Amino acid sequence: MSSLTNKRIVLGVSGSIAAYKAPDIVRRLQDLGAEVRVILTQGGAQFITELSLQATSKNKVHDNLWDKEAELSMGHIELAKWADALLIAPASANTIANLTAGKACDLLSSVVLASDCPVLIAPAMNQQMYASNGVQDNLATLVQRGIQVIDPAHGAQACGDIGEGRLAESTEIAKQVGSMFLSTKLSGKKVLITLGATIEAIDPVRYLSNHSSGKMGMALADACIEAGAQVTLIIGNISTSISEPSKQIYASSAKQMYQSVMENIKDQDIFIACAAVSDYSVKNPKNHKIKKSNQVLTIELTPTKDILKDVCQLPQKPICIGFAAETQNLLENAQNKLKNKGCDAIILNDVSSADLGFKSDENAVVFIDHKSSIKLAKNSKQKLGRKIIEIINKKFL
Ligand SMILES: Cc1cc2nc3c(=O)[nH]c(=O)nc-3n(C[C@H](O)[C@H](O)[C@H](O)COP(=O)(O)O)c2cc1C
Repeated sequence: MSSLTNKRIVLGVSGSIAAYKAPDIVRRLQDLGAEVRVILTQGGAQFITELSLQATSKNKVHDNLWDKEAELSMGHIELAKWADALLIAPASANTIANLTAGKACDLLSSVVLASDCPVLIAPAMNQQMYASNGVQDNLATLVQRGIQVIDPAHGAQACGDIGEGRLAESTEIAKQVGSMFLSTKLSGKKVLITLGATIEAIDPVRYLSNHSSGKMGMALADACIEAGAQVTLIIGNISTSISEPSKQIYASSAKQMYQSVMENIKDQDIFIACAAVSDYSVKNPKNHKIKKSNQVLTIELTPTKDILKDVCQLPQKPICIGFAAETQNLLENAQNKLKNKGCDAIILNDVSSADLGFKSDENAVVFIDHKSSIKLAKNSKQKLGRKIIEIINKKFL
């Protein structure tokens, strides 16, 4: 897994002569695994073409706040929500001043205001401009607000001057964006995550299962790995790729998943039960394919063992987080589950809507523990995964 695998970066390109280097920055971010969308300011468009940025990013370039089509769906808000990080490189003195003043005078400044993700800026300008009190004061204010400044390099400039103000190297910029996602918050911690759907055989051909794709569990695994945890995955039936580096154990049925969890739960610090485990298995699965007939066929089901409840009752239980995929009486059902299972928190997701939850790349959840509930609005599962791990870290570790 590279430092920007599954990360969505919005790259703002503003009006510095160094904007001609922006396609290279896009490529270096992609080398680290990022998907990149570009916002080009009017100033930036004087120095680099939309086409070069579209060709390298493989995405439409956004260059206009007043784009009627994009704004039908509030394009600037969508872009802000889409981003895992916002990088402005090169950042012109003018764009830096806009950010400092909290302006929303163009698409880039509006997206910065509308986003809650980390922002990095790589200033690039003439050395005298860079050294000016105006620019230095603005940068100091932005740093105070939590914006990360990627320092410019010292050297020969396009205008012939020599000094500090050259855009940092593209590889260095991409590296700093990548390192921002790495943390040591969970280093030394062991996390066991179940994910995907279980499969209960009816006969050698048919089975009972559900729509879980494993994407939410995998996003949580990515977030734990990024935070330095040692992750073990108990994997059911999934339709997503598996995160490295992690220990991977496959379990098809609810019974196998129960056994795998119990064999691996010792010494775990956190258990996240994200798999959609069947509540019932087939009482007498047939050894041979059931032949079609005109008779009514009755399949007897028997309840499966409750993995989360049993882990919660272990004498040295880890921090236990469950999921509640509900279609009605959402909060009530999730709160009952929290009490009945004895876990530390339940993550509620509404799976009644087609564009959220199962199979989808997006989700909207409520994190419910015994003291409070936190609503996490619709976003990519990757981004939600990171937020959930942050909450677990803050509340329980
Ligand atoms: C030839 C030329 C080169 C420029 N180079 C820079 C530069 O490297 N850095 C900078 O901050 N501004 C530079 N400027 C000024 C900006 O392009 C100008 O302030 C513009 O309004 C910035 O717009 P933006 O911040 O919306 O992209 C340059 C202007 C010209 C005409």
